Amino acid sequence: MIESSLKEKKTNTTEDVNFPIFNAMQAKDHEQVVVCSDPETGLRAFIAIHNTTLGPALGGTRMWMYKTEEEALKDVLRLSRGMTYKSAISGLNLGGGKAVIIGDPHTDKNEALFRAFGRFVDGLGGRYITAEDVGMEVQDMEWIYSETKYVTGIPETLGGSGNPSPVTAYGVYMGAKACAKKAYGNDSLSGKRIALQGAGHVASYFAKHAAKEGAKLFITDIYTEKAQSLADEIGAEVVSPDEIYGLDVDIFTPCALGGVINDDTIDQFKCDIIAGGANNVLDVEERHGQMLLEKGIIYAPDYVINAGGIINISSELEGYNREHAMNRTQKIYDTTLNILQYSEDHEIPTYKASNILAEERIASVGRLKSKYSSKSHFSGRLGEMYMTDRR
Ligand SMILES: NC(=O)c1ccc[n+]([C@@H]2O[C@H](COP(=O)([O-])OP(=O)(O)OC[C@H]3O[C@@H](n4cnc5c(N)ncnc54)[C@H](O)[C@@H]3O)[C@@H](O)[C@H]2O)c1
Repeated sequence: MIESSLKEKKTNTTEDVNFPIFNAMQAKDHEQVVVCSDPETGLRAFIAIHNTTLGPALGGTRMWMYKTEEEALKDVLRLSRGMTYKSAISGLNLGGGKAVIIGDPHTDKNEALFRAFGRFVDGLGGRYITAEDVGMEVQDMEWIYSETKYVTGIPETLGGSGNPSPVTAYGVYMGAKACAKKAYGNDSLSGKRIALQGAGHVASYFAKHAAKEGAKLFITDIYTEKAQSLADEIGAEVVSPDEIYGLDVDIFTPCALGGVINDDTIDQFKCDIIAGGANNVLDVEERHGQMLLEKGIIYAPDYVINAGGIINISSELEGYNREHAMNRTQKIYDTTLNILQYSEDHEIPTYKASNILAEERIASVGRLKSKYSSKSHFSGRLGEMYMTDRR
């Protein structure tokens, strides 16, 4: 049964299944892990496919200096599962996958390594579609793209959708407005005081939307000059990185790092709402999600409201159209409201409400797969990917 297959399962500990990779996969229902090795180029990578019920597994490739293979494997399993939930709650016809390349992004890159990786991606025949993630640059993606068409988020110069940050920021803005509607009965950010952590890509676009609507922003960044330049542009105030958590504001918008809602920060918050673009902001999901509920802070689940990026690159697969991507991203407003309502009705943290709604969509759409249909539902590049075997 699909419902039960997504729920947490006990690890199989029988003696004949003692290879830890199977235990790790079975614990969270991963479908497939591909171990990619090419000693000539130094390639050591994992591709994890968590769930393909809704469609091909899409998720970025991360290059990072993992200290051990186990650390890399754990990361790819965690990240690929996160992509299943993000795509499902966003209404996309995509499953969850992710890849990690073990290596130093500053010193271990070369053309042959990425082309070797591209060939491994290609060998999966579209079960996994990759994209850019931490440690990767446009050049690296172009090398991968030269070996496989199963790449998305490619530069505009190659016919792709380019930088996803403006779309991500628009989704975060929609999510914050939905939270305001829930908290104040009115979704206007006019006059609202917002503490913005980070002055990078997503934060900058978000700040412009919020300032245009009349919000009063307080901005921080570890690079003060970045925060100052953004503050000067939109008429905001700069604060120090440590001050940001305890400000007397309506909304806290984390757009920098993960793990910032933790045992140290949670008592400092005076805000009504937390809605931001950063991934994995709850340090320990169960513990800190519950603590926010008890504190009466409305938390917009990070993966729901920062989904504009994946919505953008997935629309590239159907023939990219920025307006279409923005319209889809606008729906993050309704999705967030649904999640907040479900959380209230069932008295559960919002992250949990979101996970349940994502699982329900996977289960209900998955049931339809029992009916035979042709494979040609999609237009654009995704359709072309599906159709290559029907020439
Ligand atoms: N770019 C996207 O489309 C996208 C999509 C989904 C999620 N995200 C997530 O959103 C977050 C921001 O992404 P981005 O693309 O804007 O990155 P970015 O690197 O452009 O911006 C991050 C900013 O945070 C600052 N920062 C780091 N540590 C800080 C700290 N302790 N206090 C204050 N500022 C700090 C950095 O100096 C930088 O200016 C990340 O967590 C990313 O994973 C981004």
